[in-house]
Amino acid sequence: MALLPIITAPDPRLKRIAKPVARVDDELRQLMDDMLETMYRAPGIGLAAPQVGVLKRLVVLDLSKEGEDRRPYVLANPELTWVSGEDAAYEEGCLSLPDHYAEVVRPSSIELSYLDRDNERRKLSAEGLLATCIQHELDHLDGVLFVDHISALKRNMILRKLLKAKKSDKVTDADPAHVL
Ligand code: NI
Repeated sequence: MALLPIITAPDPRLKRIAKPVARVDDELRQLMDDMLETMYRAPGIGLAAPQVGVLKRLVVLDLSKEGEDRRPYVLANPELTWVSGEDAAYEEGCLSLPDHYAEVVRPSSIELSYLDRDNERRKLSAEGLLATCIQHELDHLDGVLFVDHISALKRNMILRKLLKAKKSDKVTDADPAHVL
């Protein structure tokens, strides 16, 4: 297993559209494991392949709390098949936008189709934080960040601060203290 460097915004690599995977094979399972290890170490609850520079439609998630058994999800080629008419607002953060948070409104419940670790097509219903987290990660596959859901004023303020942090010697992508 290996830790992968996480790309932080602003970066054009986070704005690209990821390609579907042909099938989930050993190479992809290795990437899933590396992404999970990277996410746990950060620590975070979700990570999408484009955030580690891989333009594949692949997402990992784990909402278990510290001290609980791990409950990882690995989703390849995830597709929303249904979203609720009802919305929910959550304060979102992102490993690619360290130290920044904003309230984002999304459908409160979803249904999803995806390929699992064994290349089997599966369905998943989610609500609450899991529904939010999945939608946040799916956005990454289409080059969308949570700041794209908030006002331009607030988005630009956050991106300006991140750019400034990137240019300063004090903060680098590799410093785990800044990867939330
Ligand atoms: Ni994110």
